[in-house]
Amino acid sequence: MLIRNGTVVTSKDSRPAAIRIEGERIKEIGPNLKAAAGEQIIDATGMLVFPGGIDVHTHLDMPFGGTTSSDDFETGTKAAAFGGTTTLIDFAIQPKGTRMRDALDTWWKKAQDRASIDYGLHLIVTDLGSAGLEDMDEIVKEGVASFKLFMAYPNVLMVDDATIFQALSRTAKNGALICLHAENGGIIDVIVRRAVAEGKTAPIYHGLTRPVAAEAEAVHRAVAMSEISGAPVYIVHLSSEDALNEVREARDRGVPIFAETCPQYLLLTIDELARPGFEGAKYVFTPPLREKQHPPKLWEGLKHDHLQVVSTDHCPFCFEDQKILGKDDFTKIPNGGPGVENRLQLLFNYGVNEGKLTVNRFVELVSTTPAKLFGLYPRKGEIAPGSDADIVIWDPKAAHTISAKTHHMRVDYSMFEGFQVVGNARTVLSRGEIIVDGGKFIGRTGRGNFLKRVARGGAWQ
Ligand code: URP
Ligand code: ZN
Ligand code: ZN
Repeated sequence: MLIRNGTVVTSKDSRPAAIRIEGERIKEIGPNLKAAAGEQIIDATGMLVFPGGIDVHTHLDMPFGGTTSSDDFETGTKAAAFGGTTTLIDFAIQPKGTRMRDALDTWWKKAQDRASIDYGLHLIVTDLGSAGLEDMDEIVKEGVASFKLFMAYPNVLMVDDATIFQALSRTAKNGALICLHAENGGIIDVIVRRAVAEGKTAPIYHGLTRPVAAEAEAVHRAVAMSEISGAPVYIVHLSSEDALNEVREARDRGVPIFAETCPQYLLLTIDELARPGFEGAKYVFTPPLREKQHPPKLWEGLKHDHLQVVSTDHCPFCFEDQKILGKDDFTKIPNGGPGVENRLQLLFNYGVNEGKLTVNRFVELVSTTPAKLFGLYPRKGEIAPGSDADIVIWDPKAAHTISAKTHHMRVDYSMFEGFQVVGNARTVLSRGEIIVDGGKFIGRTGRGNFLKRVARGGAWQ
């Protein structure tokens, strides 16, 4: 297969070039590649040609908040493909009192025969028990080279500092990367209980009970634990300027701290939670949306590499029959929002088109750095000979209105309903196979492979 007449865009440069694909991999790239007899030609005139998007933060088919996230591996990976994402890394949860390996088996079963793009897994550690530290080494050998630990959600997912520190001390040796949900769960829990006792039960109180300082404090603590243990830390779904300042100061001192943010924190504010009636429930996720001074600081953070990745934290719950669980009490609204399909569209439109990011930085944020940090590079996240032919042929002029009426995620609303974006995926290839073309899915359910990731990725360099 030969993709020609397009502009190949990587994290480093943009150049007119053709890409030859042989089997599942890129064979060669050059300005003057000639079509061989019988070769399939894809004309990319006027198009940008990116490495496929990598979303390192999704929750598919995840039991949470008394229900299960509404996209499974079939619908979620298909929706991702429509938006130009060809790899995702989902989270397997270790139920308290069980072995980590069992969680992996559970998530492999969820993904098997369903995923249409390649996927990796992180493991959410809820309990080290007596064998947990040895289990972590085993998990890394299985190709699950990252763990998530929660500093929030007491009695559900939260672990104490001793657990986080022990886990970090282990990854300092086995080379995995620990991801932290950084919010001070104890403080938040007290504030939440006070609010409910005062009859403050509407969705807006989800935002008002989770102060920015509770996020910044947790990031500060995470930095200290990274310094003491000598292990890198990756902060997930960073939402505020204050938390960003903690990351920036630590990085300036040479502490190996990395952080992602998500489109919702770049483009929405706490005002969404105050929508009339119960509408605000559509925007209940943690950390919550913040006041309007925060998003511009996050954009600056992306530009200057204080933030390294944009993921989605895709964790969809339908409004009609799932978010409604918290109609009379915001603490019962399942936490999470949809977005896996819209990440590239939103970041391209509001980042590249609005001049906040170069197109090369865009590729770095949505594909190359995620691959590097999570042990997939250069197989994924790059357009180079030998890399998997995960390629997005992107029409930079395609206008698109985001809507639940037309999206492919299995959820009955969009957080970005009516947003008009310019720039969209025209053709999406996964390992050399066209899986989306002109708005149609032509891939095959179940063709996605589990990706064994390597330890000591980019966070260690
Ligand atoms: O509200 C959220 N973010 N739900 C998903 C779980 C998590 O904390 O990432
Ligand atoms: Zn989280
Ligand atoms: Zn999440």
